Amino acid sequence: MAEKKVVWIVGASSGIGEALARKFAKPGYKLALSARRRERLQEMAEVLECETFCFRFDLESDDPAEAFANVKESFGRLDTVMIVAGLSQRSAFLDMSAEVFDRIMRLNFSAQVDLVRAVLPEMVKNGGGQFVVINSLQGHIALPERSAYSASKHASLAFFDSLRLEYKDRGVKVLNVCPAYVNTDFSLRALSGKGEEQTSKDKKHSSGVSPDFVANQISKALNSGEIEIFPGRFKDVIGIYLQRFLPKKLFQRLLSLR
Ligand SMILES: NC(=O)c1ccc[n+]([C@@H]2O[C@H](COP(=O)([O-])OP(=O)(O)OC[C@H]3O[C@@H](n4cnc5c(N)ncnc54)[C@H](OP(=O)(O)O)[C@@H]3O)[C@@H](O)[C@H]2O)c1
Repeated sequence: MAEKKVVWIVGASSGIGEALARKFAKPGYKLALSARRRERLQEMAEVLECETFCFRFDLESDDPAEAFANVKESFGRLDTVMIVAGLSQRSAFLDMSAEVFDRIMRLNFSAQVDLVRAVLPEMVKNGGGQFVVINSLQGHIALPERSAYSASKHASLAFFDSLRLEYKDRGVKVLNVCPAYVNTDFSLRALSGKGEEQTSKDKKHSSGVSPDFVANQISKALNSGEIEIFPGRFKDVIGIYLQRFLPKKLFQRLLSLR
């Protein structure tokens, strides 16, 4: 019998990560679920119909090599890493402390690089593996009052595009997922320039697609070998195509009318 696939979801305790856990909790899979709220992961795992291993891992500050060792100790292998954890902002650049800017860059970009550094050598040694990275439309389109968020998502997208090209011949695959608005609590946790959580939900998020829709799109994309997808409502996702075909000056004028 074929060995079960091990999927590690980094940031699985709510929103898109939780929907991915529900989607991949099926025969043939074992799930390693990590986030800072371990109790929440444990509650989720009770109703998932597959073998799970839940552990606390703060992507911003904990050691990814130790976290990876935990996954291997529990399941003996790792096939897919889904990097979901992320943090946004609601602040103009000059109103933002350097600490808050760096925190967003750390979680959304350089901590991902550290995680890849920890897991990639073994993936290559074992003949390959799959990264699924939850990026954003803002990995392509920078918005005002999101200088750190947009920059971190652009950096992550470029890093994983490069990684895909470098390691494709060694069986390493990368799916970049660039959602438009998704109805999760993500905007509640967005940081002000001083580092306080926003605590209210943006209307655009409330009317966005569901996290289950995003998880379904990811599952389909993995089956068909896609390298990048844009889950979201047409009126939001169309920005990607407008950006591609309009002169940048005109596109930025449209953005400032939003
Ligand atoms: N919602 C949207 O409209 C939208 C649109 C485009 C892209 N995205 C991207 O989607 C991703 C997931 O967001 P979401 O909408 O699902 O929001 P969410 O419900 O707030 O989920 C964020 C997840 O990341 C985890 N997390 C946060 N900080 C962490 C840290 N330091 N270490 C480990 N885990 C951490 C959270 O768990 P703990 O708090 O338990 O650690 C939670 O499980 C983000 O990367 C975001 O940029 C979201």
